[in-house]
Amino acid sequence: MKNVTVITHPLVQHNLTRLRDHRTPSPEFRRLLGEIASLMIYEATRSLGTKAVKVRTPLAPAAGRQLEREVALVPILRAGLGMLDAILQLIPHARVGFIGLKREEKTLQAMFYHQSFPKHLGKFEVLMIDPMLATGGSTVAALDLLREQGAKHIRVVNLVAAPEGIKLVQAHHPRVPIFTAAVDCTLNDRGFILPGLGDAGDRLFGT
Ligand code: PRP
Repeated sequence: MKNVTVITHPLVQHNLTRLRDHRTPSPEFRRLLGEIASLMIYEATRSLGTKAVKVRTPLAPAAGRQLEREVALVPILRAGLGMLDAILQLIPHARVGFIGLKREEKTLQAMFYHQSFPKHLGKFEVLMIDPMLATGGSTVAALDLLREQGAKHIRVVNLVAAPEGIKLVQAHHPRVPIFTAAVDCTLNDRGFILPGLGDAGDRLFGT
């Protein structure tokens, strides 16, 4: 699939299997999701642009590179919070925005209840974080909002995606790269990914 990177690293796949297991309790689920986010972020940031800079070591001038743009992390509440801290550990200078979105249970429509962003979003590399991409409605709504706010460089950091959701995102935002650990089979009649891992927000927070 164009613009979709499935991260097949053995540690990512090992952790994902533990996350899928219904016996994994919330404390372990949180820890595993953090670990997997750290591993995935290497791949998701591999193609970030850099520019040449010069620094001076204690001994001599040295040529180096630094990120071309600042990074903004935008988790989708609630489940995106499960990946945020681990990513911030690796990119501590990142700014953080938030999008509160709730998928209405019957209609499966995404409803906004919160938004906050760093100023001048267009200057940032935006990593939009949501572990679940089911129908794709939430990701499309969040990407629409980020575009409205001026974001120009966006990539999606996801954990488990359904083919239906990927298709929808690609129909609306064909140039936005998606990084995921798995593309699952399908959706059930309640819009849950199969086999998926259940409701990530509920499993993270024990609700
Ligand atoms: C879940 C999930 C995604 C969304 C995916 O969140 O974390 O944000 O649904 O579904 P979609 O692709 O069909 O839109 P939910 O709305 O349940 O909120 P929560 O994270 O607070 O549980």
